[in-house]
Amino acid sequence: MWVAVLMVSFLVIYCTQWFYRWRTPGAKGNGVLPPGSMGLPFLGETLSLLIPSYSLDLHPFVRKRIQRYGPIFRTSFIGRRVVVSADPEINSYLFSQEGKLVELWYLDTFNKLLSLEGENRITGPGLIHKYMRSSLRNHLSPEALKEKLPQLVAWIDKTLLHWCTKPSVEIKHAVSAMVLEFTARFLCGYDVDKAPVDISEKIATLTKGLTSLPLNIPGTAFHKCLKDQEKVITMITNMLKERRAKEAEEEKEEDFLDQAIKDLRTENYLTEDFIVRLLYGFLFASFESIGTVMCLGFKLLAEHPEVMEELAAEHEAILKNRADSDSSLTWEDYKSLTFTPHVVSEILRLTNNPPGLLRRAIKDIEIKGYTIPADWTIMVVNSTLHLDPVMYKDPLAFNPWRWKDLDSYTVAKNFTPFGGGSRQCAGAEYSKVVLATFLHVVVSKYRWTIIKGGRIARRPLIAFGDGIHIRFSQK
Ligand code: HEM
Repeated sequence: MWVAVLMVSFLVIYCTQWFYRWRTPGAKGNGVLPPGSMGLPFLGETLSLLIPSYSLDLHPFVRKRIQRYGPIFRTSFIGRRVVVSADPEINSYLFSQEGKLVELWYLDTFNKLLSLEGENRITGPGLIHKYMRSSLRNHLSPEALKEKLPQLVAWIDKTLLHWCTKPSVEIKHAVSAMVLEFTARFLCGYDVDKAPVDISEKIATLTKGLTSLPLNIPGTAFHKCLKDQEKVITMITNMLKERRAKEAEEEKEEDFLDQAIKDLRTENYLTEDFIVRLLYGFLFASFESIGTVMCLGFKLLAEHPEVMEELAAEHEAILKNRADSDSSLTWEDYKSLTFTPHVVSEILRLTNNPPGLLRRAIKDIEIKGYTIPADWTIMVVNSTLHLDPVMYKDPLAFNPWRWKDLDSYTVAKNFTPFGGGSRQCAGAEYSKVVLATFLHVVVSKYRWTIIKGGRIARRPLIAFGDGIHIRFSQK
């Protein structure tokens, strides 16, 4: 009997001590941790982060804690110790310390589903990172985009014509699929009508699986995602192998895959598996990003007919000035747009998806009197900048005209929808071209009405309930 009492007492003491250490973690030496609460054991403060917020404002999880603790605070999500920083100076310092004091960090589910683990992971540092950026830069440079612009216009037009044949489309998925299929065609010659796998359907299940428990058991969402991921990876691997087999046969315009095949011969740190996963990563990155922005865009444009009117006027002027009425949008037309880029920036400013970018502290980081201990996760919240009332008067209002008065220096410092530092989005220019071109085709040739949905929620990623359903018709 006394053995049982002793064991229970030990267990109680151990659990109490563990709980105390969990709630009040200390930094090494004289370091002071940022203020905050670690929440419940294991769960941390995850539940508060997941409570939906039906506003474009900063998620209340962050807003409330900034009010209570200031712009840097500690917390914990699913057992990870986290420092959240909404301090612009700290954030730009952290972005400048990529690879030195901080490195990219993703949730375990994300790592597994995107194959971001292991030595040769596509999010790796050094040469791997350089290759990742330069390969995408070569294919998404303004010169490359200029050349592809007529194809992009034709692709968007063809897609919109198809949407006109349907009673309605769920716009986030529809735009995501359109962009993904174009990006895949552009980077590796993917043809949705001939390919063995419908890439947008598979990548859509993958994005759903990112929020599921990483349980690889038949019947779970995670298991289904891994199976779908395998199908896409196999398809890309086969495309690569087929191209390699007939490499020397045909002379044609070089896409990402052709370039990668050449690089495989000269760069011995590259492998076929790495190239396949890199391409898969690019396709994944292009999937929901633009779709989410455009989904919020449609909602905001529907609520602001005055913006639609000015947008339509800008594009009608382009059409009127054309010598040949059948010709496509040119690069010069695109560069001449003034109001459309302001609309795009304003939508990007309000989208703020995701709530923060994640990093891992490689070593202890001393900053503004606090210590961020090594191995802690850091959530860099830059959206506070986008909703700062000093910089953006009445920040929750959709007002593209505000951009007319902002100079480029202020914008560069206070507008970071594509992140910052050496990890800044490699598809930023491409995204801006796609968004402006899409708006051009829509306002010049089509009518649209939201027939269902439109309620937004941040949980903490931006979501749109059952989606925003739009009916399209030709003008
Ligand atoms: C509106 C659309 C988009 C937004 C708002 C966006 C946003 C971002 C952000 C914030 C990051 C930085 C992540 C971090 O620091 O942790 C990022 C990285 C990245 N994005 Fe995008 N993105 C968009 C579209 C795209 C597209 C279309 C592509 C590909 C074609 C792309 C490819 C990438 C890549 C490869 C990275 C990693 C860069 C690196 O690690 O050096 N993105 N994006």
